[in-house]
Amino acid sequence: MSKSKFLAPRGTSDILPSQAIVWQELESKARELFCLYNYREIRTPIFEEIELFARSMGQASDIVEKQMLTLEKNKREGEDGIGKKSYALRPEGTASVVRAYIENNLDKKESLSKLFYIGPMFRGERPQKGRLRQFSQIGAEAIGVQSATPFLDAEMIALSVNLLKAFGIEDYTLKLNSLGTPKDKEKFASSLRAKLGVKKESLCQTCQKRFEKNIFRVLDCKNKNCQEIVSALKISNDYLSKESQEYFNLVIGSLDKMSIQYQKMPTLVRGLDYYTQTVFEITSKSLGSQDALGAGGRYNNLVQDLGGSGDVEAIGFSLGVERILLALDDQEISNKPLDIYAVAFDNKAFEKAFEVLGVLRAQGICCDINYRAGSVKSQMRAADKSGTRYVMILGEDEMKKSIATLKDMQSGTQEEVALNNVADWIKAKSC
Ligand code: HAM
Repeated sequence: MSKSKFLAPRGTSDILPSQAIVWQELESKARELFCLYNYREIRTPIFEEIELFARSMGQASDIVEKQMLTLEKNKREGEDGIGKKSYALRPEGTASVVRAYIENNLDKKESLSKLFYIGPMFRGERPQKGRLRQFSQIGAEAIGVQSATPFLDAEMIALSVNLLKAFGIEDYTLKLNSLGTPKDKEKFASSLRAKLGVKKESLCQTCQKRFEKNIFRVLDCKNKNCQEIVSALKISNDYLSKESQEYFNLVIGSLDKMSIQYQKMPTLVRGLDYYTQTVFEITSKSLGSQDALGAGGRYNNLVQDLGGSGDVEAIGFSLGVERILLALDDQEISNKPLDIYAVAFDNKAFEKAFEVLGVLRAQGICCDINYRAGSVKSQMRAADKSGTRYVMILGEDEMKKSIATLKDMQSGTQEEVALNNVADWIKAKSC
């Protein structure tokens, strides 16, 4: 009886070699760009205390309320930390980076920490196109006393847009808003409460709950009726204090100077509690309902809220890798072709072939071999399938003469090359 097979968990996917090459390309372009802007990599654990996420993103955020993938507690209570504390897989990177910043006293070491990360995040959402339970983010956070400048906001936004351009995405919209200080944000929330209060009964069931718990979420509702109610409110930035408005104007002015196109969008509030001042989102029409390629913003109070110093401010963003790939229409880049594929016809020839392959690899030449001896026809078929530039044939004749026959798979021409000269021969061909 055949045994049942295992499948990848719903909302996750395998990245097979033909796609992994595209991931590597994106990651290496991202690393190059981060280096140009002087961002350094940080790697944090993929699970953290649940409380870290609840305190940073807010208990009433969708992520904390409904999407946390929590770890089961260790049955042997008390044996180690796992048994005593509650942990969850990280749903995003910002909270972990700020936790690491505080824990490692980075504020004592530098006035601005420019950090980037690339890695998997986990959210227990209902899977659909562009919405996964395990997805990957490329993100950056600039944290420190020196972070409190609108020019950094503009540079951060420019970096996120330039990353997308480097990946080959041209068709996107940058949406921009300012939430102001926590005091401005509270003013915004009370004016929303007053305006929406009279229409509360007409909102969808979910928004009626949002009205009580986190009123900003009403602005993100996809329900047509709720959207019409929100649009009739004619929301503007009038809740911003003079200082916050001036700050936002400087961000905008700086983006204009860099010729970065944006759309001001006073209803853009973002679903996470930690945001203050500038917030932004980058969307693409090609993505369907899950249209955000990335998003970010300032979070000036998070370091203090998580137990760090009160004068440290911060801003960051993250891009969703799977959505970038969808926007690129899943372009498949082919693997770097092999330089040499060896075929051998008996054990003696195999021994010699592995000796030569060792020399070639030590000199940085990509090569492989057909591990099974077979007929000339089947060997050449395997060589053809490998996509190699040259086939190195080691048959009886070649062994007698201490040579290999090297066949150019494009032109079909063949040359006899001394076995101790194959590396130099292939290098000369590559020049
Ligand atoms: P976010 O808007 O929750 O922000 O996520 C950022 C991006 O991650 C989204 O725009 C999207 O591209 C991708 N993403 C989110 N959820 C999923 C999912 N379930 N499946 C596939 N892709 C997804 C944050 O995470 C903030 N930490 C951004 C930030 C950094 N703010 C300041 N610093």
